[in-house]
Amino acid sequence: MHNNKNIDMRKESDDIKGQQQNINLMAGPSCSELEFVDAREASPDVVEELIIGRTAEKGKIIASLLDGMSEKIIILPIYGIGGIGKTTFARLIYNDPNFKCYSHVWVHVSQIFDLNKIREYVISQLSGKESQAIERQIIHSCLTELLSGKILVDLDDLWEEDQFHLQELKDMLYHADSSIIILVTTRSERVARRICTNLQPYKILPLTNDICWDIIKQRSSFESRNDKRQLMDIGREIAKKCRGVALAAQSLGFTLRSMNIDQWIKVKESGIWNEPISDYASLPNHVLASLKLSYSHMDASLKPCFTFCAIFPKGHKIVKDDLIYQWISLDFIKPSNMLSNLQLGEKYIGQLLGLSFFQHSVPTFKANLHILQL
Ligand SMILES: Nc1ncnc2c1ncn2[C@@H]1O[C@H](COP(=O)(O)OP(=O)(O)O)[C@@H](O)[C@H]1O
Ligand SMILES: [Mg+2]
Repeated sequence: MHNNKNIDMRKESDDIKGQQQNINLMAGPSCSELEFVDAREASPDVVEELIIGRTAEKGKIIASLLDGMSEKIIILPIYGIGGIGKTTFARLIYNDPNFKCYSHVWVHVSQIFDLNKIREYVISQLSGKESQAIERQIIHSCLTELLSGKILVDLDDLWEEDQFHLQELKDMLYHADSSIIILVTTRSERVARRICTNLQPYKILPLTNDICWDIIKQRSSFESRNDKRQLMDIGREIAKKCRGVALAAQSLGFTLRSMNIDQWIKVKESGIWNEPISDYASLPNHVLASLKLSYSHMDASLKPCFTFCAIFPKGHKIVKDDLIYQWISLDFIKPSNMLSNLQLGEKYIGQLLGLSFFQHSVPTFKANLHILQL
């Protein structure tokens, strides 16, 4: 990194360090918290053992997809609030052995709808070549060639409402020689209704309180604790407050892991749960509350590392090693006797992944890089 740049960044980092002491995550569209929630992107590899519940729902959806198999194109929109588990659920279907003989395409669409980008993603995944290597002029014919046979596409996190754009998207993917299944995840019922063709949009169900409690137990390493008997009832109460949202349960579970019984009680009784309902429709108050609680209990040394990530625009992919070097050059990481700077950086990344504030991004062709997505 250039020296002047480094100095500038240090100045900014001091500001960030100052600000992060007082950071107050607010509910509302300008909320910095929404930045990382909105732009989360996940990879299609899903570790099924970590997924709890959803079995009956998955069976039902797969049956309806198999039923519609005679159609050239099947579109299944899955909708529900942020963090409820749409992406995870879609990935369960995507990876199901029933679709083993399908070519798979997974596209994170996000709030910025860019048909060219989507097209490039589709081409690069179907052809196995990096999209930049494909000349723009031949892109159209290339897609037509590639779109043959059985294809399963997952369009993750679609926000676009414009009918015209949605039609263009469908037209792009439709091809007479292919049999294509398109899974779409979206927070918006309206988007779901506009994109659907032959299958009714599926509203994903909230998890039960028991399942939220199972997620919390798993994330907090509950079973290995000596005080688990005393924690049981408090934990169940906390699980109820997640109101079926997987993200809330995951993030809180990870936070509770390093807490003693008094702190568990504090989380349960926190006033944050009763703060006024958020006016941000797709992220209800209890989801924000759980994330705020997780943030407020984050290690003081991790906070600047995390708040620094607010400099990245929505949807930005972060190369893990680059981020760790940025943290180090900005002096956010204080070496300890036990761990080197790099090891600490790795540990922080692990913690942010554990909190579900980061998720692994789609595998790219730079296979040796480990990409994270805010
Ligand atoms: N059934 C489940 N069991 C365990 N964890 C889950 C489950 N569903 C979702 N999660 C976790 O909850 C978090 C949010 O899920 P995600 O699918 O990204 O939500 P959405 O796409 O609706 O915003 C992720 O970290 C995911 O791993
Ligand atoms: Mg999602």
